[in-house]
Amino acid sequence: MNELIRLLQTRRSIRRYTDEKLRQEDIDAVLSAGLLSPSGKAVRPWEFIVVQDKETLKKLTEARTGAANMLSEAACAIVVVADTDKTDVWCEDCSITMAYMHLAAHSLGLGSCWIQMRCREAQNGQRSDDFLRGVLGFPANYSAEAILSLGVPAQQRDPYPLPDIGCGKVHFEKY
Ligand SMILES: Cc1cc2nc3c(=O)[nH]c(=O)nc-3n(C[C@H](O)[C@H](O)[C@H](O)COP(=O)(O)O)c2cc1C
Repeated sequence: MNELIRLLQTRRSIRRYTDEKLRQEDIDAVLSAGLLSPSGKAVRPWEFIVVQDKETLKKLTEARTGAANMLSEAACAIVVVADTDKTDVWCEDCSITMAYMHLAAHSLGLGSCWIQMRCREAQNGQRSDDFLRGVLGFPANYSAEAILSLGVPAQQRDPYPLPDIGCGKVHFEKY
C-alpha cells in the first residue's frame, strides 16, 4: 500500500505519552511539515512556539478546562499562532499546518493531539487565546489556533474501519 495512505489509515489522536524526551531531529521534521503546508495566496501567516519546559507545559494545561490535560505528560507542545492581519484565511491555513504536523508526528512513530484554542476558554475564564498570550508573549494582533501536543506514545489506538466512519458521507454526481 502507498505509504501516505497507510499513515492516513492508521493515524489517531494520542493523548498519553511516556516520559521520554524527543529527538531534536524529530521535532525539526514535524516543524518542517508544518512550514511546508499549503497556504492561501502563499501568505503563510503562521508562527510556531515550541515548548519543552515542563513547568510551561503544565501551565498550558490551564488554557482549557479538561481538554488540554495531556500537556502535563507531553514532551513538547507546538503552539500555532498567526498574524490575523495578514490574511482572512489564517484559520484555514493554521488548520492545515496542524494537520500536516499531526500526520508527520505519526509517520515518525510519535503520538500527538490537536488541542483547540480558537473560540475556547481557559480555566480562569479568559479566552484561551488571551491566556496563552499571557504565558507565551506573542503580539496582540496574533491569535492562537491550536496546540499540538507531542510525545512518545504510551497508548496504542486501533485504526477506524473505514466503512463505519465513511458511510453516507460521500455523494457522487448529486447529493
Ligand atoms: C478542530 C479540532 C479540535 C480538537 N480539539 C481537541 C481538544 O481540544 N482536545 C482534545 O483532546 N482533542 C481535540 N481534538 C482531537 C479530536 O477529539 C479527535 O480528532 C477526534 O476525537 C477523533 O479521534 P482521532 O483523531 O483519533 O481520529 C480536536 C480535533 C480537531 C480536528
